[in-house]
Amino acid sequence: MGKAETFQDLSLAPPGEGQELGRWLYTELRAAIRDGRLRPGSRMPSTRNLSRQYALSRGTVMRAFDDLGNEGYIEGRVGAGTFVAVRLPDESMAARRDPAPAAVEPSQAGLANRGREAVEGIRPLPASHSVGRAFRPYEPAIDLFPVNLWSRVAGRVLRRAPRSLYGQGDARGYLPLRKAIAEWVGAARGVRCHTEQVIVTSGAQQGLDIVARLLLDPGDAVWMEDPGYPGAAFTLRAARARVVPVPVDSDGLNVAQACRQEPHARLAYVTPANQFPLGVALAHSRRLELLDWAARENAWVVEDEFDAEYRYFGAPLPSLQSLDRSGCVVYVGTFTKMLFNSLRLGFLVVPERVADAFAAARTFLDRHPPTLEQAILADFILEGHFGHHVRRMRQVYARRITALCEAARAELGSALDVARADAGMRTVGWIKTGQDDKEVARRARLRGLELAALSEFTVRHFHPGALVLGFASCAPAELQRGVNVLAGALDRCPADAGLAGAKYL
Ligand SMILES: Cc1ncc(COP(=O)(O)O)c(C=O)c1O
Repeated sequence: MGKAETFQDLSLAPPGEGQELGRWLYTELRAAIRDGRLRPGSRMPSTRNLSRQYALSRGTVMRAFDDLGNEGYIEGRVGAGTFVAVRLPDESMAARRDPAPAAVEPSQAGLANRGREAVEGIRPLPASHSVGRAFRPYEPAIDLFPVNLWSRVAGRVLRRAPRSLYGQGDARGYLPLRKAIAEWVGAARGVRCHTEQVIVTSGAQQGLDIVARLLLDPGDAVWMEDPGYPGAAFTLRAARARVVPVPVDSDGLNVAQACRQEPHARLAYVTPANQFPLGVALAHSRRLELLDWAARENAWVVEDEFDAEYRYFGAPLPSLQSLDRSGCVVYVGTFTKMLFNSLRLGFLVVPERVADAFAAARTFLDRHPPTLEQAILADFILEGHFGHHVRRMRQVYARRITALCEAARAELGSALDVARADAGMRTVGWIKTGQDDKEVARRARLRGLELAALSEFTVRHFHPGALVLGFASCAPAELQRGVNVLAGALDRCPADAGLAGAKYL
């Protein structure tokens, strides 16, 4: 009876509704130890008395004791019983705070020049707190992603994964995933490679970063599409490359002009399947011109095919990599647009002679992307779900761009000419009111829309004012709502604007 009183004095709070009893007892006893109701070195109540007092099975009490013992709160002494540890684990795991640090001058340590230059003007991308908002340009249809299927595959992979997958992973990426990628890009984009040339990255952006680190020296000239993808420009600037803005017309990057501007550039960055942000494809003749130049100059061509799988109208042109005979192309792909943004898995296909260097670079970067996520993605692809999803999204996005164009024609007809994108997840709406595109974008953002002005992506070679509008992530009703809101940001089109039917590119 005496022992029963001992633990009555512990004042254990009753278990919460539905709380697992072993977990409850563990938590309560640990609290009693930490706040001194059970003093260090004192004898623990016996398991028998605890089980009687709280109507618990001995097994439940033993489990709580095991957990407390495994964490170092209690210890068994042979022949003597179980005691509260003299030195609690919390003491060795919590640093003591200096009670009253003396006042000192605040540190003046700041960013290095290189660091300051690298981040100048960059705002961190905001986290998504909603999905499907008009006209978010970088998001696929997350609302239609098959989460149940993904979690089934994930659950199975996690249950069956061998313990070795919890250890150090392959610097190039998980082999079955690299095999699946090599097969997919071979079939879908004509990319010729074997698995050793595939490097799994944390999205296309990291791929671009590794490229810039390994293939460029400070001061090297790089052809960059203008307007172009700011993420690539930022990466090039961080590598201290000299970015040479090259104009883009209806056939894509103007290679002849680039040759005149900077014939001995070290690298060309292009989005040939679906130019960012204009949405044009690099013409076949320009592809050949670009590859000829690179072969002649021993230069690199970085082919960023971030959303090439989504082509709705017309046949896709083969990738530059598939036409490359000299081995100058680095192919960049990503699953963040094909599946969902937060997956953060992408890949590079690099020429064989530099593949080891790309793998070695992981040693000072991130070692490798998380292996278990790669294993889930590998099964998702190998079981055919990925192909099915991409084919399904292609249909959905084709309907969405059509819905956007129709809504824009009906509501904004004379003020904004929305191009029917042949591919990709965003399009361009040409402003016909004569308003400045940044001003229209500013007004639209104030009304809650997510969009950008074309001129925000332009350095030197300006096109007429336009808005860059994402459509893939938005259901048709949201696109309609977005168009209605956009009407409030646009002036009425002056009758004599003379821009109707103008050629924009
Ligand atoms: C042209 C282009 N390349 C690369 C990326 C980066 O892709 P990821 O999110 O996989 O890093 C984007 C993102 O929108 C993009 O538009």
